[in-house]
Amino acid sequence: VSRKLQAPRGTLDVQPADGRRRLRIQRIAADGLGRAGYEPFDTPVFEDTELFARGVGASTDIVQKEMFTFEDKAGRSLTLRPEATAAICRAYVEHGMHKLPQPVKLWTWGPFFRHEAPQAGRFRQFTQVDAEALGSDDPSLDAELILLLAELIERAGAGPARLRLSSLGTPETRAAYLDELRDYLRGHQGELSEDVRDRLEANPLRAFDADHAGTQAVMAGAPRLLDRLDPADAEHFAEVRALLDAAGLAYDVDSTLVRGLDYYTRTVFEFESERLGAQAALGGGGRYDRLIEELGGPPTPGVGWAAGIERILLASGAEPEESEPRVFVAVVTHPARDHAFGLAQLLRGRGIRTEIEQAGRSMKGQLKHADRMGARATVIVGEGIEVKDMDTGEQRSVRDADEAAARVEELLG
Ligand code: HAM
Repeated sequence: VSRKLQAPRGTLDVQPADGRRRLRIQRIAADGLGRAGYEPFDTPVFEDTELFARGVGASTDIVQKEMFTFEDKAGRSLTLRPEATAAICRAYVEHGMHKLPQPVKLWTWGPFFRHEAPQAGRFRQFTQVDAEALGSDDPSLDAELILLLAELIERAGAGPARLRLSSLGTPETRAAYLDELRDYLRGHQGELSEDVRDRLEANPLRAFDADHAGTQAVMAGAPRLLDRLDPADAEHFAEVRALLDAAGLAYDVDSTLVRGLDYYTRTVFEFESERLGAQAALGGGGRYDRLIEELGGPPTPGVGWAAGIERILLASGAEPEESEPRVFVAVVTHPARDHAFGLAQLLRGRGIRTEIEQAGRSMKGQLKHADRMGARATVIVGEGIEVKDMDTGEQRSVRDADEAAARVEELLG
């Protein structure tokens, strides 16, 4: 027996009910982002592997373990994009977008790929909506983007979500802080869990997430990065917060927030849903003021976020999207088919969702089918044309296609 073919592990087929819900979220995103001046933008699904190694960070899990990397026929190393930001920055440099009026505001939607262990809300191919503002370090961009993501989550029905907010300052501040934290932890070695002690040198920040009571007691007194920011970064963070406060958006300042990408400076944030399990992050992002320069462009600040569409759908429950009222065109005899086909085109041209008999059913079978699909009206085309009101059962003869269309429009209200 031949092997049963299935979708690859960690991927999913989007079936119609889900497809409609995705389209709806895409429209909500396009609408909200469009009103704030963000323009649609797309980059390729695969890029030079080096872009992600340099952009996302060689030491991140994404680059070390999760990339789908392959060689093309010329031996070039290519990678299916694990995220959008590095590629958008690459495009900004490649197209000389620093010459455009700044900031350049872009958004994108599409598939992304990470070779992670699949579980609820975590896939190897997933969909992100991503928004970026490049070319200005104005804190109002950070606040604007955070508000746009909050609005998207809300309008998609995926709320409530908790917003965690922090600032990472500069890489230099961060390095000095990590040294200070390591020193502090070394001074309390005996009180820490074994796990935290083992990872003290490599990843001291993990100690903040520990369940171990002794470690938690030590961490209550640990130095916090937010208290070590230099004055300009602290001021920037205070402005972002003031704008969010003025907009009435609640957030938790959480100095333990860590993101899985290396490029962040200053603001970082993440929205979490209580309705999701371990993979609770609906979306997140932050500022990356050095990334474009690291990719070979002029020094250019940037800020942005990405949200996972599968997770937004999971958090928003399974309420089906209402589809538009439908019309069915039934065909009495084969010779009437051309006429019926033309009539269906006419109705579609008027913006009416119209389906026509295309499976060789009997008239009885066609009417049953129309009823089952929830048609509001059925147009029966034989020697003449009749329009049936599917609610009352009333059937009316009409003179021609135009009169049929008028009657259908009347029934659809
Ligand atoms: P990220 O936090 O890695 O950020 O991903 C953003 C969102 O994508 C996550 O919050 C999650 O909803 C979704 N996501 C990530 N991995 C998976 C997965 N394996 N399966 C399902 N959903 C997933 C970024 O990607 C940054 N580029 C965001 C950004 C833009 N920062 C600045 N600009």
